[in-house]
Amino acid sequence: MGTGTAYLSKKHAFFSVFCFVLIIVLNVYISGNTDEESGIKTTNSRNQPSELKKSNYEDDDDRAAPPKPVESNDRDDGDEDDDSDSEEPAKPEKKAVEKTGKLSKLQLFECKDNSKSRESDRPHKKSDVNSLFNCDKEDSLCHYYYPANFFDENCGLGKSYVHCIDDAKQMMANGTLWNFMPSVGFPTLTVNDVCLRLDTEKEIFVLAEDSDMPSSRVSGKNILEGKIGSYEEDGKKCSKERLSFLHVHKAGGSSLHQAFNFFGRSKSATIERHKFFDPSRTPGRPSPPIPKAMLTFTLDALGNATKYPDQRFEANQHVIFAAVRDPTERFISSIGQALGASGSGGNRIGPVLKQTCIHGSSADALKCLAKYVRDHGFWIELHFTPQVIDISFTTMWQDVPIAMFSFKNLPTILDHFGRANVHVRDGSKEKYRSDPILTNMSVNDYDDETLEIVCKIYEMDVVMQRSLGMEVPRCDKFLPRSYDFEY
Ligand SMILES: *[C@@H]1O[C@H](CO)[C@@H](O)[C@H](O)[C@H]1NC(C)=O
Ligand SMILES: *[C@@H]1O[C@H](CO)[C@@H](O)[C@H](O)[C@H]1NC(C)=O
Ligand SMILES: *[C@@H]1O[C@H](CO)[C@@H](O)[C@H](O)[C@H]1NC(C)=O
Repeated sequence: MGTGTAYLSKKHAFFSVFCFVLIIVLNVYISGNTDEESGIKTTNSRNQPSELKKSNYEDDDDRAAPPKPVESNDRDDGDEDDDSDSEEPAKPEKKAVEKTGKLSKLQLFECKDNSKSRESDRPHKKSDVNSLFNCDKEDSLCHYYYPANFFDENCGLGKSYVHCIDDAKQMMANGTLWNFMPSVGFPTLTVNDVCLRLDTEKEIFVLAEDSDMPSSRVSGKNILEGKIGSYEEDGKKCSKERLSFLHVHKAGGSSLHQAFNFFGRSKSATIERHKFFDPSRTPGRPSPPIPKAMLTFTLDALGNATKYPDQRFEANQHVIFAAVRDPTERFISSIGQALGASGSGGNRIGPVLKQTCIHGSSADALKCLAKYVRDHGFWIELHFTPQVIDISFTTMWQDVPIAMFSFKNLPTILDHFGRANVHVRDGSKEKYRSDPILTNMSVNDYDDETLEIVCKIYEMDVVMQRSLGMEVPRCDKFLPRSYDFEY
């Protein structure tokens, strides 16, 4: 949360100082404890009630009639295919240390200037709360990621990509960023003891609510106290927490939107949307400025983003989470989207890419598209944007902690919301992608030349993912490791 850095625009500098002071005051007030390594032992309870576990996300492909996705008029709901077919759910990678001899922590390296106040340095009492989104726990699937550290211009792991942020800001200002693409923002879900029960007949989870149950809807403004996190009660799985999710494009966003919307229907839950960027539909003409109220609302929300709390969620406090995906897998999914899967309907680059590259085999097409994106830049289509930029953009370049999951854990996240058996889109299904060359395209179509191009376009994503213990094995050959990571 430094001022005057390339990460934050000058406009926000004053605000940041203000935020910082508030954060400190707030934090000291809340925790009354500044012991980061408080050594609290985590219990071994799993994040999920295992008896209640149901069919896996992957299984859904074979269902004759998957439940219909929830209707929504959200523009950013329908732009995904969450084709996870080639990726197996996985346990978190072992915290192995490689041997480069240089260590990086929390997306930083060799920071000489320690005067900067960083979210990652903020005192935080390790939380022992049982929640999938509590990355403090020994067995958690997530790690906290600090986008502002990553893009720190002096000692961030991603410092050589900082120019991309300036580009994004300029393009946003001159109306050339992601024309015709869906709006960008994040929803916040306040869950005040929402319970799910298994409908054994339909084999799906349903909201466990009696019509005579008093409604206990709460919003972002409320304090959540008592038993926060996930718990089981009378054979139901329940939770109380406040979560926001970042829609990283082509990494599970649509399914997560559906999951949020599903929970949002509960009488004990509320969704608040922070939709701050609506790309211009007239290239060259800047999009209308963000309405002041929405800007304040969103920045306040970002200022109140926190790691998973230890005791309770204060008013406005929420945990932001996101899932990121192996960029070589994601690129194929992005292609399917950019070249005409429904949801990118308005995009003008799709037909150009098709005409240029969809000839011959899937492997030929993949190589051609990789070269096209290398030569014309990933800005040509929202869905080609590197995930680190997607994340920083959606958090308005603010210094926030993000509970980061691997896309491989998407089934587990959806299972938390009782939506593991609801698959939004599947890119491998015939007709969904617009051409058989695309339908057939898979990671098997990569040869070394194509892989190298894609790994280099998405080098920043590879670096970020490695810093969180997520490996991108296909890129190892082309992107040597510069650091060992501690996380
Ligand atoms: C908008 O800004 C980008 C990034 O600086 C620049 O490359 C592009 O030429 C600009 N376009 C217009 C129409 O001004
Ligand atoms: C947290 O949210 C409140 C209420 O919207 C706001 O007044 C406050 O400024 C926010 N805190 C930070 C640090 O942004
Ligand atoms: C797609 O794959 C199927 C089966 O592997 C093959 O029969 C078909 O010819 C392929 N189509 C194209 C356009 O490559």
